[in-house]
Amino acid sequence: MAGHTVGKRSAVTCALKCDNACAHPAPNVSDNPTFRDIAGAALSRRMLLKGAAAGAAVVLLGGELAGTTPSASATPVVDPAAPVVPGFGGKGRAPGLYWNPIEPVSAEVDAFTVPEGYDWSTILRWGDPLFDENEIFDVQNQTEDRQARQFGYNNDYLDIMHIPGTGGREALLVCNHEYVNPAIMFPDGTDPVAQRKIAMQAHGMSVVHLHRKKRTDPWTYTVGSRYNRRITATTPFTLTGAAAGSELVRTGADPAGTTVFGTLGNCAGGTTPWGTVLSGEENFNGYFRAAGTATGEARYGLADKETANGWETIDPRFDARTPETVNEPNRFGWIVEIDPFDPTSTPVKHTALGRMKHEGANVIVGKSRHVAAYMGDDERFDYLYKFVSKEKMRGGWRNGVNSSQIIGSKDRAFNKTLLDSGSLYVARFSGDSPAGEIDGNGALPADGKFDGTGEWLPIVIDGVSQVPGFTVEQALVDTRLAADALGATKMDRCEDVQPDLRTGRIYVACTNNSDRGVKPGKEAATEVNPRNGNKDGHIVEITESRDDVRSTTFRWSLLLVCGDPSTNAATYFAGYPKDKVSPISCPDNLAFDSWGNLWIATDGAPSSIGKNDGLFKVPLRGPERGHVKQFLSVPRDAETCGPVIHDQDNLVFVSVQHPGEDGTFAEQLSFFPDYVPEGTTPAPGDWRGPRPAVVQVFATR
Ligand code: FEO
Ligand code: CA
Ligand code: CA
Repeated sequence: MAGHTVGKRSAVTCALKCDNACAHPAPNVSDNPTFRDIAGAALSRRMLLKGAAAGAAVVLLGGELAGTTPSASATPVVDPAAPVVPGFGGKGRAPGLYWNPIEPVSAEVDAFTVPEGYDWSTILRWGDPLFDENEIFDVQNQTEDRQARQFGYNNDYLDIMHIPGTGGREALLVCNHEYVNPAIMFPDGTDPVAQRKIAMQAHGMSVVHLHRKKRTDPWTYTVGSRYNRRITATTPFTLTGAAAGSELVRTGADPAGTTVFGTLGNCAGGTTPWGTVLSGEENFNGYFRAAGTATGEARYGLADKETANGWETIDPRFDARTPETVNEPNRFGWIVEIDPFDPTSTPVKHTALGRMKHEGANVIVGKSRHVAAYMGDDERFDYLYKFVSKEKMRGGWRNGVNSSQIIGSKDRAFNKTLLDSGSLYVARFSGDSPAGEIDGNGALPADGKFDGTGEWLPIVIDGVSQVPGFTVEQALVDTRLAADALGATKMDRCEDVQPDLRTGRIYVACTNNSDRGVKPGKEAATEVNPRNGNKDGHIVEITESRDDVRSTTFRWSLLLVCGDPSTNAATYFAGYPKDKVSPISCPDNLAFDSWGNLWIATDGAPSSIGKNDGLFKVPLRGPERGHVKQFLSVPRDAETCGPVIHDQDNLVFVSVQHPGEDGTFAEQLSFFPDYVPEGTTPAPGDWRGPRPAVVQVFATR
């Protein structure tokens, strides 16, 4: 696993996180380009060889709700240009976060870097006890039981949800634990079976109660709170939607096909307007040994080989080569929903949102009160999706309280079923510039923009398959195959897809695709993915027709074509002068602040531009549109995940995932976040080694 992959980061992460997805041929071998794409691809390949709605979500949602991140909760109807302070009521109190951009940090630096006038601390680290303060983390003596009661590994999606009625002094932290890295977690000689059992408990999600004395203070977590919860690879989930109970999801252990144990590969996510959290099961294929011969298995990267995790050696359900277990992989790859405010609730997996390598899902309420969830399938040449609920969201403001936020209310219970049934679409993009102007080198076409129109192609409408030859169950379980058949547009790895709740516009982070137009037989540049060998990624901005989430057509343009503009001419910052922006590469997770600025977390900058990954802000409106500024940088080998921007509190939160991932237990490369000095004895609960952690950044002035 030595060396680095092109346009992505460490080979260790490639093996553990996504089963070496980039080392295998991209599993989309469908031949589904549009006529326009065919013309563009042929031309681009030749050239390469030669030269080398305002207010859509509003009223229903409020500020101090369960989901109070500006990215997840909506704001009142406002003039898009005017700053607002959603739900914080502080008339005249200007939001915080005044800062000058940091300099990009070299990829060898093992430091968490913030702007002048700011400092940082951790809220939670891998191994921190959630239920009993006497269960102090001891890396030399980890056990399965302990890990089940501790904060998990490799945290990704994050939200800090204020608890209504606490005046901003209490909140729930919710995050995902995507995967593990045993080589740096376990002392040499640790029993492999014990390692795998611990690993299963280090996956999943965490819900943790936070408290503080006053708003704007950093948070502290509460050990032993009744809210605290771990969801792991063994927690029961209920399947919902049209594929639940179908033959395709039945197993010997679950002949009804309705109960699944565990959630895996949980990557990004989204907080719903009714105060629950969605999480995407992404690289689930890497946990299963399967025959790999069925078309559906191959399309999802399932194969007959030993897995890096090795769970098939300790739990037979991860060996899908038997009649009893052949459908077990069909029970992963879903959007899951958990209710952090009800610690006894059974989490669900929503089959209506399709099965893919789900990055995450983000919900917006349309003007008709139908809700839409926008979703990316994070694999080279895979697709962008939209789900629209059949039913309308219920609830509204009564006596200053949103009824859909009241635990136990009928409205909230109903809204928790909105993702059970509806319509699923996949995107097809068309460019408006002549194909010959998209040369694969990133040069802008003559009209000065990468832009055009698009269609949402229906896969399922209100529970009925729209794809010839596919039942609804087949379309939901083998969604990639259904989308292939419809001729969806092959994208450069859609990661986070985030609707702007003020404007209804949708932002799609396409992180990179080093194969585009490079590997034989692989599609070359199109206007929406305009660079061959795309190692830096780009961001697509989508406007639904009539500003209606139910629309089946849209317009689009590229907001950013990322990279370091000092060395890469094939970059674009919405027309903003390139010499004034921070270099940015491999956009991954997205969030909004209360002013409507987009914040972008990156994953892969070390191997593309030689800098540590970071968090960046970019205004979307006015003369500053496109002015990318870097706010923070994460330590060596780490990825920045799950940004939460509470600028009203002058606080920013991120998940720091896989610090020091290329090390070994004996020779660690990162000492974040404890930074115990060499030769000293760590304080109880500390460790001289890397720990994935949730970090809060706060002002010191
Ligand atoms: Fe887990 Fe698509 O990143
Ligand atoms: Ca154009
Ligand atoms: Ca991601």
